[in-house]
Amino acid sequence: MAMTSMQRAEAAEHAMSEELDRVVVKSVLFTSGEHDPTKPMPRPPDQGKLYMMGHDPRLARMPDRPTLFDFFRLRFGPANHVLQSARLAMKNGVEEKIVLACLLHDIAISGFIRSDHGYWAAQLLEPYVDEEVSWAIRYHQALRFYADDSVGYAYPQMYVKLFGADYVPEPYIQEAYREARAHRWYMSARLITVNDLYAFDPGVQVQLEEFTDIVGRHFRQPKEGLGFDGSPTAHMWRTIIYPTKYL
Ligand SMILES: [Fe+2]
Ligand SMILES: [Fe+2]
Repeated sequence: MAMTSMQRAEAAEHAMSEELDRVVVKSVLFTSGEHDPTKPMPRPPDQGKLYMMGHDPRLARMPDRPTLFDFFRLRFGPANHVLQSARLAMKNGVEEKIVLACLLHDIAISGFIRSDHGYWAAQLLEPYVDEEVSWAIRYHQALRFYADDSVGYAYPQMYVKLFGADYVPEPYIQEAYREARAHRWYMSARLITVNDLYAFDPGVQVQLEEFTDIVGRHFRQPKEGLGFDGSPTAHMWRTIIYPTKYL
């Protein structure tokens, strides 16, 4: 009997959770689409085990007081795209704050939530960076859809490929573009898009350490570690550390 992809996913999940000594229940957000969120969530059989309530052994363990770079190394994947963007921004001679914005602009995609990634990244970062940096990151999402000839920024060919030639951004993105256009920090967000490249050479490796000084000067690393400093977004960093925590 052929299995549907949902059944295959559940079978794989089941096999996986048998190997773990804790039962993992995924957040609705991680399964919506494959599973209809208006229907009850099929729960994995508890197999007499306890539920996951902290460190997931399938993930690299984070230090007790994680730094931004620990998140880059252990949760944000190879991060080549943002590293390349930051290097390009540096080469283009933009100010350090904007290099930092380029380095951080897509961290929501690489480590948290894709949908509305500019807003999520801005929110994660707000307690730790200049308001202009988080503002620019929030608005780069909308500005990516709008050309600006004055700085040589064209609508990305990549977006035509990804979303189709007739894609029109939603009204809230159109509105965000209008707001950004009229704002004094417009060019800061625009510079993220100018340095937001996809056609880079995958052979070129950029090391995180190239940005140690800029991060040191412009990112307020909390001494308790990201996730444990009681900031308004600490819980979001903790969710990245413990994405499968039951509660
Ligand atoms: Fe982006
Ligand atoms: Fe990007």
